[in-house]
Amino acid sequence: MKRVNRRGFLRAVGIGFGTFTAATYWTPNICAGDQQTIRVRKEVNSLSPTELNDLKSVVRILKKRTEANANDTKGWRGQATIHNDFCPHSNWFFLPWHRAYLDQFEQICRDALGPGSTFSLPYWDWTKNPYLPASFWGQDNPLFDASRDIDPNEAIPPEMTGEKVLNNILDIQDFETFASGKSKAQRPTSAPKGFTGQLEGVPHNNVHGEVGGDMGAYMSPLDPIFWLHHANIDRLWNEWVRRHQAGTTKDSDWLDFQVGTFVDLQGNPVKRKVSDLLDTRTLGYRYDTDPESPPKMAFSAPPRVLTEFMARSTPTAAATIVNPLSTSVGLSPELSNLVNESAKSDVRGKTIRLTIGDIPIPENTKFKVRVFLNCKQPNARTPVGDPSYVGSFCFFTHSHDSAGGNHQEMHAEANKPQTAAFCFDVSDVVRRLELAGEYKAQSDITVSLVPVPLKRGEAVIGEIKPGLIEFTGLK
Ligand code: C2O
Repeated sequence: MKRVNRRGFLRAVGIGFGTFTAATYWTPNICAGDQQTIRVRKEVNSLSPTELNDLKSVVRILKKRTEANANDTKGWRGQATIHNDFCPHSNWFFLPWHRAYLDQFEQICRDALGPGSTFSLPYWDWTKNPYLPASFWGQDNPLFDASRDIDPNEAIPPEMTGEKVLNNILDIQDFETFASGKSKAQRPTSAPKGFTGQLEGVPHNNVHGEVGGDMGAYMSPLDPIFWLHHANIDRLWNEWVRRHQAGTTKDSDWLDFQVGTFVDLQGNPVKRKVSDLLDTRTLGYRYDTDPESPPKMAFSAPPRVLTEFMARSTPTAAATIVNPLSTSVGLSPELSNLVNESAKSDVRGKTIRLTIGDIPIPENTKFKVRVFLNCKQPNARTPVGDPSYVGSFCFFTHSHDSAGGNHQEMHAEANKPQTAAFCFDVSDVVRRLELAGEYKAQSDITVSLVPVPLKRGEAVIGEIKPGLIEFTGLK
């Protein structure tokens, strides 16, 4: 059996990024026969007092580094700046980039805690424990962030992080619908365009928005809860892989890509290849919810997108908090058959992907958008338990008042996204409608968008104007 015993570094030339001209390319050094202990990432509420103390100490140490030198890339602010400058969102590098970012950060933490440290990042399971952990509150606490919008006694509402929502997301079969779509820069200019997948667009974005303050924008790693939020996202990715053994794409545009740019223990720039990031055990950790025996990684062919099974509509109006938007999308007979097949099937089968795209990013993003299919009178009071309910999404972007960074969609493309796109697998919704006796085979589907303020009763002028609403049938 092969085990990783130490990290090997290979010098390679990287593409110029901001101030970095060369990046070290990390590669796992596989040696047979060596022992390696797999560290366990635990839920934050189950940390021992010593483990919690380690977490507090390391945050304190990194914050001190920033006080001593504001440009220290291994300091608290320096680490957050890496996120601000390079994190890819709304595309399929979202998951591996953040996995690598957390891994590099964890190494920096262990190094800061001194020799022999077995420090592992905890995660925050907001589904089971919807309150921002008690250990992250209190004035003189390094884990506290005074800018948060949320209060200690305010739960993250289950609309995007509840068990039902998560189970539904983990059941998605199509990789991109789950993990976000191929980067725009890697796609041909024709449809389908890039989009935010359900894990990113629903619970991920929502927790950023609900916590608010620093967490609401790209400098979010300044709030210590960021790291635990992302460890949970990382855990859910792992969970999905376990449920869909052959579900991961084998597209080399993804596997061969090097995400970055992070910093290593010497403070040098480092990049990580996506294919080296697929198994957490290779990286030396597992989650306490993972089974002892490791999951098998397998790749499947990328889903065949049947463009003839695509239907779209270009709405001309905007959805506002006062006036929801309903748009009817005409389906081709083939697509309509596929939807019909899904509705009548006992188990969730083919993916029917709904994309709401070309949405200019609104100035004020403190609202969420509920999506319904064939809903008779969609409005803010329509319950999310209604069979016509698809899901909700919200935005996560640069704060409009910050200077903004050199935001990277992918390599060689520094950008700040101007538009957003969100997707949902609706095959389950049509089955639910059928079960509720509310589905009839028809040649069009009405998609309704209902913006609702993030906080109940808050007056927000939320408005979105999607440029396209599209259904894609995947076989
Ligand atoms: Cu790149 Cu949750 O942030």
